[in-house]
Amino acid sequence: MRKFLIAGNWKMNGTKASTHQLASELSKLDLPANVNGAIFPAFLHIKDVQNVLVNNDSWQIGAQNCAHQADFGALTGEISANQLRDAGCSLVLVGHSERRIIFGEDDAVLAAKTLAALAANLTPVICVGETSEQRLNGNYQQIINDQLRAIFDVVGIDNFRKVVIAYEPVWAIGTGLVAAAEQAQEVHSAIRKFLETYSESLSVNMQILYGGSLNSTNANELFNMPDINGGLVGGASLSAKEFGSICAIAGEIN
Ligand code: PGA
Repeated sequence: MRKFLIAGNWKMNGTKASTHQLASELSKLDLPANVNGAIFPAFLHIKDVQNVLVNNDSWQIGAQNCAHQADFGALTGEISANQLRDAGCSLVLVGHSERRIIFGEDDAVLAAKTLAALAANLTPVICVGETSEQRLNGNYQQIINDQLRAIFDVVGIDNFRKVVIAYEPVWAIGTGLVAAAEQAQEVHSAIRKFLETYSESLSVNMQILYGGSLNSTNANELFNMPDINGGLVGGASLSAKEFGSICAIAGEIN
């Protein structure tokens, strides 16, 4: 049976001391057998968090962005997928809506970053989702399929088998507005149908996370949906107690 992946996106939060403390608290949690945990600290804190979790197999560490898709080079201020792997990351977020909207990352850049991540042996967590306007217009599934297709067409099916997808409706991120479990399930199921147009096994095996104001109050309903295989948690992952509760809730689901 596929395990739940519960991933914490710490975004641009925390200091050396507070992230060290948070990682220490997470290291003491007993994750349920059916849960894999992952955390995405700021670049600067990756090494320290790793040191805290060094002998702890429960947690994988990822980066929030593959800053540049090139391997190495004269690119002042950037960080490559190779460097993330070398620093001990095993996952990387690609196309979080904050990257798409605030930093203008387009489909071509995100496809290139996905390829770079895969080449560096990182698992890309590809984030997709619609804005509130797109939801109101009713064409949200088309938008999500287009976001996926743009990357699929560049990386190809064998590579796409190695990615994780996170459905994160933009209107639910950091707003306290969570997608109703049925709304999220509708999209997750439609993503599987879209993937099925390429391959049934790709569709069946894809790990699809939900993200957007996920917390210990709404996790149970969401995780009980048949096509939701975990969560990408922002604000609620900044408290070890709350994040631990979310992991425990996933642990109770068969
Ligand atoms: P949120 O963020 O849980 O704070 O809404 C989720 C995300 O951006 O991944």
